[in-house]
Amino acid sequence: MDAVLLVGGQGTRLRPLTVTTPKPMLPTAGVPFLTHLLVRARDAGVDHAILSTSYRPEVFEGWFGDGSDLGLRITYVTEDVPLGTGGAIRNVAGHLRHDDFLVLNGDILCGLDLAALVAEHRARRADVTLHLTEVDDARAFGSVPTDASGWVTAFLEKLPEPVTNRVNAGCYVFAPSVLDRIPAGRPVSVERETFPGLLASGARVYGHVDLAYWLDLGTPAAFVRGSRDLVRGVIASAALPGPAGEALVLPGAAVADDAVVTGGTAVGRRARVGAGAYVEGSVLFDDADVAAGARVVGSVVGRGARVGEGAALTGTVVGDEARIGARNELVDGARVWPRVVLPDGAVRFSPDA
Ligand code: GDD
Ligand code: MG
Repeated sequence: MDAVLLVGGQGTRLRPLTVTTPKPMLPTAGVPFLTHLLVRARDAGVDHAILSTSYRPEVFEGWFGDGSDLGLRITYVTEDVPLGTGGAIRNVAGHLRHDDFLVLNGDILCGLDLAALVAEHRARRADVTLHLTEVDDARAFGSVPTDASGWVTAFLEKLPEPVTNRVNAGCYVFAPSVLDRIPAGRPVSVERETFPGLLASGARVYGHVDLAYWLDLGTPAAFVRGSRDLVRGVIASAALPGPAGEALVLPGAAVADDAVVTGGTAVGRRARVGAGAYVEGSVLFDDADVAAGARVVGSVVGRGARVGEGAALTGTVVGDEARIGARNELVDGARVWPRVVLPDGAVRFSPDA
């Protein structure tokens, strides 16, 4: 089966991590996030993955190559100008076999049984089948009401006042005939144009409700949570490069004997955690350096970045190769841009004891 992976977005909400690395390629529990998705697709019967790229396409191809390491065939199709989610699907039409195919948003971590989604699509003889999940606040998603039998009655993208908390989970099965319904050569949003248009013309769009683990990794807080849940095995992944547990320490990393690394933290290759440091529920990219006595909680430390002695980070994103001087204190939502140097003791949120 073919799968189209939509991976062309700029990942603006994850800046500055996405300044150099596209969102789906950020190291998540030890491997680029997309690896988890590709392996899940492969294990559900996908043998050909089409990566629909636009932003920094070379990063994908440089890492995955022809896909043979993962047991897949991978084709890359790059948009010079972003074509939107629908335009991206239409743009890869020439690479698809004439059969039902999967479409996956490239930033979704989920436990959905993909084979069951495909089986439902075929049993219902649908034109499109959408995975639907439920969230507390649907404003950032496509809300998707259905009738009593599960047929979709409307597709309402990012409403300020959503009509239902059942939302588009970013995973679809398409019948090949739907490709003809998407105009070629211009940007098209599958959410704002294609799905509403299909419904208006009476197409058969089915909503497959599955409430398994589901997370959109599009924000720093969600990215950290996704990595943590993978490391701890809250969501299983065959791509996890080690046993699930409180910490995943990759080869070449050095953690001091009296440092504490816990809460689903991932420690990248050649990263260092110094004496007496405490790291909880965080992601340390390759070559990151957490110095002695530092405290890092729910944070991301970018590639080659350094957190100085006694610094304290909570809910913080540190860009690649940035330097956080000793005894700085950064709290929720702080973002430090790549290569920025913060002098010792420059930022404090609590008075000195
Ligand atoms: N090739 C290509 N070209 N890919 C794109 C483009 C484009 O122009 N624009 C976005 N993408 C990719 C992104 O890389 C991402 O993997 C996926 O399409 C979805 O884009 P997001 O920017 O993450 O969208 P969202 O999270 O705000 O909303 C989407 O996902 C929600 C579920 O997480 C929508 O599909 C919502 O309806 C849905 O509820
Ligand atoms: Mg998203």
